[in-house]
Amino acid sequence: MSAKTIAIAADHGGVELKALIVEQLSKQGYKVLDLGTDGASSVDYPDFAYAVCKTIIDGTAESGILVCGSGIGMSIAANRYPEIRAALVHDRLSTELCRQHNNANVLCLGARLLGVATAQDCVEAFVSTEFEGGRHQGRIDKLSAPH
Ligand code: RB5
Repeated sequence: MSAKTIAIAADHGGVELKALIVEQLSKQGYKVLDLGTDGASSVDYPDFAYAVCKTIIDGTAESGILVCGSGIGMSIAANRYPEIRAALVHDRLSTELCRQHNNANVLCLGARLLGVATAQDCVEAFVSTEFEGGRHQGRIDKLSAPH
């Protein structure tokens, strides 16, 4: 079985945390698709959010991680796609819940708000927590079909 592919991107506010997460996931055997940005130059977070979301929608990646200063812009951008359930989390518990209840397929992190250890704990919880299904499935279905 091939390794799970996780797409990741950041804006200039999240470059350093992104590099640490790439290292973290690569060490664990995940195939990490790093879509930038890589320097300190100012970029627009929607461009990077959309790049990650497209890889999930076209099946290149199973899930994604987006990092910006607050995580807010990335989460707003990613959630414009009906196929994407992006969760802006702040600790391990909120991350576990976004997987168990919301089947989140994109994790959003605020590099200027979270310590590195907390952010990496969120990443670990994101990749290791399963969706519970059951009563949550119908609610997930409604997210893709607003009425
Ligand atoms: C960039 O300065 C900052 O606005 C961005 O990283 C993010 O926090 C937006 O939501």
